[in-house]
Amino acid sequence: MTLSLQLTIRPERPDEAAAIRTVLDAAFGGPAEGELVDSLRAAGDLVLALVAVDNDAIAGYIAWPRLLIETPRDVRNAVALAPLGVAPSHQRNGIGSALTRAGLAQLKENGERLVFVVGDPLFYQRFGFSLEAARAYVSDYAGEYFMALRLADDPPEQGLVRYPTPFDGLS
Ligand SMILES: CC(C)(COP(=O)(O)OP(=O)(O)OC[C@H]1O[C@@H](n2cnc3c(N)ncnc32)[C@H](O)[C@@H]1OP(=O)(O)O)[C@@H](O)C(=O)NCCC(=O)NCCS
Repeated sequence: MTLSLQLTIRPERPDEAAAIRTVLDAAFGGPAEGELVDSLRAAGDLVLALVAVDNDAIAGYIAWPRLLIETPRDVRNAVALAPLGVAPSHQRNGIGSALTRAGLAQLKENGERLVFVVGDPLFYQRFGFSLEAARAYVSDYAGEYFMALRLADDPPEQGLVRYPTPFDGLS
């Protein structure tokens, strides 16, 4: 259903954790992603976290955890997109796309150079993510859902992608 939205996208606030949990639990049909976000936030692992607010209610959420790319020579920074969730009542109204585009623009402005996502290529390719761009990186997630997007001309070109510890508990 197409809704008439009064949409604002902005960084999450500390008092919004419970409302974000509610949206993620509903979007994913279970607590795993909401628990992941709480753990990442508590550990200081989030580079950026945005909410989409419609008529004073949180309708969508996107988190961008810090990743490390390890090579025998050095360790460099990257970012993950995970998780992204939109309240079921608000899906298919452009909110997931708006959150993704806003986050990528902010990360680029901040000087981030490389972003990974694990998800449906049909959805994420529209933002510039590609399976090809992720192929040179080693990860437990590598495969048909593991994509990358370069935000700069000089991203880390290969290496082992290390997700923060809270991802270890995600099945
Ligand atoms: C996936 C999700 C974040 C998309 O957000 P959304 O606000 O509903 O998406 P948008 O309205 O911005 O959709 C943009 C496009 O993606 C398509 N799309 C939406 N969800 C999709 C999905 N799961 N797979 C493939 N395409 C999808 C839409 O049809 C739309 O296509 P169009 O522009 O050609 O019409 C949302 O549906 C959601 O929260 N789903 C449950 C949780 C989830 O699966 N999160 C993603 C984990 S990787």
